[in-house]
Amino acid sequence: MNFVEESLRQNLFWLRIMKEHALFIRLGLPCDREGLIVEARDLEELFGELLEKARNLINPSPDIMRQFNSKVIDALNRIIAFKTDILNELITCRLGGSNFPLLIDHIRREAIRFRMILIRLQNDIELLPAQEALQEEIFWLRIMGDHAHFIAHLLDPSERNFVSQALDFAERFETLRLQARDLESVEAPKTFENWLLPENFLGQPVPQSIGVGLPNSFVTPRLRFFNSQVKDAVKEIRNFKQSGLNLVKNCTVLSIIPPLLADHILREAEMALQDLSIVEQRLKVSDCALN
Ligand SMILES: [Fe+2]
Ligand SMILES: [Fe+2]
Repeated sequence: MNFVEESLRQNLFWLRIMKEHALFIRLGLPCDREGLIVEARDLEELFGELLEKARNLINPSPDIMRQFNSKVIDALNRIIAFKTDILNELITCRLGGSNFPLLIDHIRREAIRFRMILIRLQNDIELLPAQEALQEEIFWLRIMGDHAHFIAHLLDPSERNFVSQALDFAERFETLRLQARDLESVEAPKTFENWLLPENFLGQPVPQSIGVGLPNSFVTPRLRFFNSQVKDAVKEIRNFKQSGLNLVKNCTVLSIIPPLLADHILREAEMALQDLSIVEQRLKVSDCALN
């Protein structure tokens, strides 16, 4: 993987997304929470400036790219902390407004993953193809399923057909995600074992017996086929979101979905397809367990 090229691809996409998250949070805050409103506005500005800088990076050297990534990681630390504060207030009923807790958790997951992608790039850490495939699929399946639920909840209840279409998508993505979880413990059992460790275990010596008898993740024909099934489902929700965006823009559907949010989730479906195509290429060139 090319460090500079991949850093730019990730930054150009996710910096705009982070900027919009700050805006969406602000729009859903109660108007008397001035401190939170100001922080949301500052974060929107910060990510807007970083996005402009990223757009002006023409053929950056690896050093310049590394410095830029590290600035972005600092900004991500700040927005992740902000999303965490908001979420904790929401789930303890200390904050009103119109942000769903799951929406804040969703956008915090997107920020956490963006930060981890940059940390991996900065430290030259690469995942095994099967592990990477399952991680990407599980991440995007959950995001796409959440989007379907958000659409269903933000449409006017009178839009019965659209609401039930959105809920059908949610169910389809949830079923695929369960299957991905099954495939994960089948084909990447160490991932399951690692999940049982406490989260502050990193950096400590590995106790004996961890990983014993378990293979590294491996590619199988089923895993390759699963990737194409996930891609097909994402293509369908991408088309659904595209028509949704047109309806919202033309005011031909009743909802409280702002056009920018409709566009935001459409772009995320496009990014999911890009990521899943990269995974597909990696799975294609990897040795298969049957080869
Ligand atoms: Fe997002
Ligand atoms: Fe999203």
